[in-house]
Amino acid sequence: MTRRTFVIAIDGPAASGKSSTAQMVAEKLGYLHVDSGSLYRAATAATLRDQSDPSKWTEQAVLDAARPVELRAARTSFYPLLEGRAIEDEIRGGEVTDNVSRVAQMPRVREWVNQKVRDAAKSRNVVVDGRDMGTMVFPDADLKIFLVADSRERAARRLRQRGTPASQQMLDDETMRITERDARDAGQTVPAADSVMIDTTGLTQQEQVEQIVTLSKQRSG
Ligand code: DC
Repeated sequence: MTRRTFVIAIDGPAASGKSSTAQMVAEKLGYLHVDSGSLYRAATAATLRDQSDPSKWTEQAVLDAARPVELRAARTSFYPLLEGRAIEDEIRGGEVTDNVSRVAQMPRVREWVNQKVRDAAKSRNVVVDGRDMGTMVFPDADLKIFLVADSRERAARRLRQRGTPASQQMLDDETMRITERDARDAGQTVPAADSVMIDTTGLTQQEQVEQIVTLSKQRSG
């Protein structure tokens, strides 16, 4: 069946500003934001509740633990619930962040996430963000964006988000962590051939959002 909703896919590496940009674009256009990474994180959080040793996790155990995860629509975004409860703080914690790449390597978990994201887009115009939205999940997206930024700049943004003054050493450490995550997620993080690449290193968030909103208005005619 042909999709009748409008889909904007925003992909890019860790800390490239995808989620906050996608959220702002969604708000400007009156669409709903779907953060696909939040589902990988929710599956990880659910499995951590059941089994504390991630080295023993099987794909089936992750799928079983993730069964009670649902994606709920709010005013401007979809967000994951686990057993009916919001889990935002839990999914952003260090333990989930340290183990989510392992879960994101599991092919059936990827199918589970992809299905939930596609279901969300069945009835609503959406801005989806992740690594493979424009390649695997919505190869027919109306607009595909791939955000890139220098790894040191991404590290500096992460530290600013946390709101604590950062030393040179902290910046070096965060840059290293981001480079390691890039390597772990590299297999999934491939730009679609028909995506628009935006290097955000020298751009403000507002400028990124405006560029995407303008492109989207051109595409929707
Ligand atoms: O963007 P994030 O940090 O919330 O992503 C969490 C993890 O999920 C990270 O390891 C990358 C992975 N991911 C993925 O493989 N594919 C997606 N579409 C989104 C996230």
